[in-house]
Amino acid sequence: MTFRNKIAISSEQHSLLAPQPPAEERKRAHWLSAELERHNYLYHTLDAPEISDEQYDALFRELTELEKRWPALRSPHSPTLRVGGGLLEGLNKKEHRRRMYGLDNVFSNEDWRDFVERMRRAWDAELNGPLPPAFWCDPKLDGLALEVIYVDGVLSGALTRGDGETGEVVTEAVRTIRTVPLRLRGEGPFPSLLEVRGEVVMFKKDFAALNEQQQALGRKPFANPRNAAAGALRQLDISITESRPLRFLAYNLGEVDWAATAPCLSQHELMERLKGYGFLIPPDGRLCVGPEEVEAYAAWVREHRQDFLMEIDGAVAKQDNLEAQEALGFTARAPRFAVAFKFPAMQAETLLTSIDIQVGRTGVLTPVAVLEPVAVGGVMVSRATLHNEDEIRARDVRVGDTVMVRRAGDVIPEVVGPVLARRPPDAVPFVFPHTCPACGEAAHRESGEAAWRCGNLSCPAVCLRAISHFVSKAGLDIQGVGQKWVEQLVKSGRVQSPADLFTLKAEELLGFERMGAVLAQKFVDTLENARHTATLSRLISALGIRHVGEQTARLLAGQFRDLDELGRADAEALQALPDVGPEVAASIRNFFESPANWAQLARFREVGLWPQSSRTTSGEEGSALEKTQNGPLHGKNVLFTGSLSLPRGRAQRLAEAAGAVLAGSVNKKLDYLVVGDKAGGKLDKAQALGVAVLDEAGFRALLAAAGITLDASE
Ligand code: IVH
Repeated sequence: MTFRNKIAISSEQHSLLAPQPPAEERKRAHWLSAELERHNYLYHTLDAPEISDEQYDALFRELTELEKRWPALRSPHSPTLRVGGGLLEGLNKKEHRRRMYGLDNVFSNEDWRDFVERMRRAWDAELNGPLPPAFWCDPKLDGLALEVIYVDGVLSGALTRGDGETGEVVTEAVRTIRTVPLRLRGEGPFPSLLEVRGEVVMFKKDFAALNEQQQALGRKPFANPRNAAAGALRQLDISITESRPLRFLAYNLGEVDWAATAPCLSQHELMERLKGYGFLIPPDGRLCVGPEEVEAYAAWVREHRQDFLMEIDGAVAKQDNLEAQEALGFTARAPRFAVAFKFPAMQAETLLTSIDIQVGRTGVLTPVAVLEPVAVGGVMVSRATLHNEDEIRARDVRVGDTVMVRRAGDVIPEVVGPVLARRPPDAVPFVFPHTCPACGEAAHRESGEAAWRCGNLSCPAVCLRAISHFVSKAGLDIQGVGQKWVEQLVKSGRVQSPADLFTLKAEELLGFERMGAVLAQKFVDTLENARHTATLSRLISALGIRHVGEQTARLLAGQFRDLDELGRADAEALQALPDVGPEVAASIRNFFESPANWAQLARFREVGLWPQSSRTTSGEEGSALEKTQNGPLHGKNVLFTGSLSLPRGRAQRLAEAAGAVLAGSVNKKLDYLVVGDKAGGKLDKAQALGVAVLDEAGFRALLAAAGITLDASE
């Protein structure tokens, strides 16, 4: 079946007859036109955008709507009719055999349904039969479009998109990209002419390494992988291109002469063919049948956006049937057969109002940008890390600057750099403080280190962080001793180290805000209980040794009897343990080599917080108390399911305190499955395997038998 192109392209040449817009709207449209053109140039030609993609899209949409409402405003020069930006001087230019179009965007499922509707209307069903329902979908890569040209299977040219009609010749630079085959793979025969289109990107990890290197060389870091890739590709000096880790991923064709080869009939077949020829293709592409499946795919990509190796800014849906693609054709600027689901930008600009210095648990001073709140990738951001003194200097970020902020993955938002065009004339370079903002003592920066540190062991900010960590879920998990109390206790000077908590008396607490006799007693009891039930693994994790999280702490507690024994272990003994590498071992040694830390440990011993591990053969830790060791949960594999009246984490901690080993799944080795409300498949499985099932009362009874007491309210 051959679909014929029977689409009437509506002409907009009647603007003089059309109703005239009010002066204000005319003015706005002119302004939008000029502004969009300026941003096009900044983005495409100079690789120096001043606004985020999201802001650009908003301007673009506003102009499109105005032109829709007032056809008289449309002009052949409108940026809404343009594909890309301009051309860089210095590179040779060449016309594309087929124009390289951009894609229209949809921002919601409603927009997408409208697009499908427009596609239906453009489709001549009488002539062509029903519109094929399948779409090839893949992630929208945030790089730059490139066309690579093969003649009889041999790479013979490469063009950037340029303005869509004419691109820059970058053949030599492209030859250095390892993922561009110099000859098509396979036996042939090959098409006599094959133009493959795709995206040049830099993987996130390569970008991070490149920026680190830039900085080490004292150069300005790149704003994002796209800019780094664009800069690399359009180098006149190709040795620079070669040194940058670029990749090309293919997703489309330009002109083709299939010659003696079988032509591809569908997009999904084409993707297979491209893979066979030796190209990388965008990951996780899928054939979706019907608009709903496309919506589900777009939602999936959006949710997994962070997990992709490269930056993506949306998902693309393309009519799968290539003849139907041809028949649907193009509007003035984009295909009618394909559309991009755009995700919110992960980058935005905002005002940097001040720079705060935060003091961490280990005394490190971290500069934090205080920002006018702005949405980045759908999340409001008002603070962003500036990492350290060198980073601020490398990016030359100043208070009063308008800055680009980005979020990558789940990581803390960061400031990319200033928008120099908006720098106030009186902005001055930031001077990193040489004193701790919390205690006023001199800070120091060791040679070879990026961080300034406060070395004052009783600095209130350091104490506060250390104690907060100590009582947190990652530490002893002492519920009821929250951040607010810790702050008050540290501020009063009564508590300067975690061990001080265990010397508190109820009477002393009465002076604190909202602390009555009952609460004060409860507070002291909670701490007393925590001291009794603390396991060695929890205590190790509570110490906040760098690189030692809960997992490693558990492992260490399974190997060493107590902190004395752990403290005596040398790096070699530590590294002999599974999962302990040189970095972790060194960090543990560092901790135990500090006399200040031993002083702190001595205080733990003094207040009776000195758990011993039972060193079970499984490598997991038992409990310190004899009663616990003889208790019914000791050494037993326990798993929780359903909801209990106390939080899951709390129940797990208690079980651990009673010497139990937390299991990950129901299997024959499981000793107890503790079930709460709404237990599901795990209960069925346990019963099928004959595993003992405990309800909450039964679990509490076993805890009591192990000498573990719960608060009255629990
Ligand atoms: S298909 C006729 N698939 O996004 C155009 N394009 O903003 C068909 N892009 O110009 C293009 N990832 O450079 C397609 N998986 C993908 C893409 C993709 C990124 C680029 C392409 C396009 C631009 C539009």
